[in-house]
Amino acid sequence: MVFPEYRPRRLRKNESFRSLIRETRLSASQLIYPLFVMPGKNARETIPSMPGIFRLSVDQLAREAKELLALGINTVILFGLPEKKDAMGSGAHAKNGIIQQAIKELKNKAPELMVITDVCLCEYTDHGHCGCIIGQDVDNDATLEILAKTALSHAQAGADMVAPSDMMDGRVAEIRGMLDENNFEMIPIMSYAVKYASAFYGPFRDAADCTPKFGDRRSYQMDPANSREALREATLDVDEGADILMVKPAVAYLDIIAMLREEFDLPIAAYHVSGEYAMIKAAAEKGWIDGEKVMQETLLSIKRAGADIIITYFAKDMAKILRQ
Ligand code: PBG
Repeated sequence: MVFPEYRPRRLRKNESFRSLIRETRLSASQLIYPLFVMPGKNARETIPSMPGIFRLSVDQLAREAKELLALGINTVILFGLPEKKDAMGSGAHAKNGIIQQAIKELKNKAPELMVITDVCLCEYTDHGHCGCIIGQDVDNDATLEILAKTALSHAQAGADMVAPSDMMDGRVAEIRGMLDENNFEMIPIMSYAVKYASAFYGPFRDAADCTPKFGDRRSYQMDPANSREALREATLDVDEGADILMVKPAVAYLDIIAMLREEFDLPIAAYHVSGEYAMIKAAAEKGWIDGEKVMQETLLSIKRAGADIIITYFAKDMAKILRQ
């Protein structure tokens, strides 16, 4: 059937038709909101490159949790700014570390909220790399044990899920082993399976104070030019026991999201990262784009590419629109 018998515009006539045949929909329950937790009391620090996002002290978390739940957002991912940093990132698995305190506070005050933790060392090392340094580079195998200890300490504090973002080889298996040995076999792993060495993380590194003091992350994060390698990375994580696969960043990597959706039957998450958020916010502030519409179109495109779950700083803004 071709024109004039067939007319695609028939089904675009008004919002009732459009809504009836809509293929992709966003839901607040599949959005994850990142939270930055800092030491101190009564702290609510703005992050200049991420308008609308704050670093919060632990005592501010309960209020934040209530607001999120009221909006239908059931899940957060936590990032911590420790009091002190050292070469080995020991603050990441400190019993009373910033994230461990945050998990306990949230689980205490808002038990319905799902708490995922980012498992990485870059916020806790004085050199800002995602593992410990031996020689001139991050030592893969020595880092694994520290990551596993970190994941275990998060589970012990009450985290619902752990999300390793370090990109060391073998870390999913190491973390799975450590959790299972300690009777946390029911705690899932959302692995940052395909994480590119991206310039879109700039604002996050300001927010979490984790810019590497020397070199860059290209010896562990992936080369943006590669997609076959993404399949290999994801396959390894599936074999090592990942429960959810994540692609990061999102918008510049929609092809990778679509490919993983095609190849794997695990749930797929996409991280709409700080730089992607900042660009929309900045252009909207200048009046160059309609920020709200561009946000919706962007998040929809990530879902349409095949992501089930979206981690985004826009979670609250989007949830407000979805509620209308
Ligand atoms: C930690 C980590 C980073 C992000 C999430 N976890 C920074 C990085 O790898 O440099 C970036 C998130 C964002 O940009 O929003 N390794």
